Amino acid sequence: MSRERAKLVVGNWKMHGRIKDNAALLTEVAAGASALQNEVSVGVCVPCPYLAQSQALLAGSVVRWGVQDVSAHAQGAYTGEVAAEMAADFGVTYAIVGHSERRAYHRESPELVAAKARRALDAGLTPIVCIGETLDERESDATEQVIGGQLDAVLLVLSEEEAARIVIAYEPVWAIGTGKSATAEQAQSVHAFVRAKLVEKGAAVASVPVLYGGSVKPENAQELFGQRDIDGGLIGGASLKSKDFLAICQAARTALQ
Ligand code: 13P
Repeated sequence: MSRERAKLVVGNWKMHGRIKDNAALLTEVAAGASALQNEVSVGVCVPCPYLAQSQALLAGSVVRWGVQDVSAHAQGAYTGEVAAEMAADFGVTYAIVGHSERRAYHRESPELVAAKARRALDAGLTPIVCIGETLDERESDATEQVIGGQLDAVLLVLSEEEAARIVIAYEPVWAIGTGKSATAEQAQSVHAFVRAKLVEKGAAVASVPVLYGGSVKPENAQELFGQRDIDGGLIGGASLKSKDFLAICQAARTALQ
């Protein structure tokens, strides 16, 4: 049984999109999401060059938009980085931080991810903090140690009130872009562990949404979202097709019923 609270489904476009294609995708997602009423919140995290386009097409719709990373710094000589405050200028709601692709390819440490989460909060954004283990780590029974460490680093630098304003996304690295999702049971077991750590941080933090990400598709979304501690999803590949993304959003609604 899932918990009786609204679900959240966020698309992570990663490094995909062109002005021309985005217009159709954003418009279709906005139209489809309006039918979900208040039961499912929907967001899309786009590449920074498309923030203005997202704002123009989504403002006034139920869909919120976001970025896929922010700098740990407020401003300054950091060539190529984008400050959370800059994203906020475009009406952004969400900032993904600590995605496994950034941890792996850009060597982002748990402490850096924590600093980014704090910067996003300071700018009034909602950080979506990604955590997850590699296949090697899972096979050597280190899943809880790894994601516990990633989560602790963030919770350590936030007050209870601040921690209550974040979103967590559990994304097993071995399930990302592989077509091989975690089973609902595997995901729920990790989500329950994450939930227990959030509860430990304080009563206000207990209801922080914990999303699942990694090969979520229309076919497996409802079973995943029906698990007690899975509050929605962070969707990669399937968020690039409005039909699939909206079907996943609809599955979140069905899972609530
Ligand atoms: P896929 O849905 O393509 O597996 O990607 C998941 C992800 O990394 C979302 O952040």
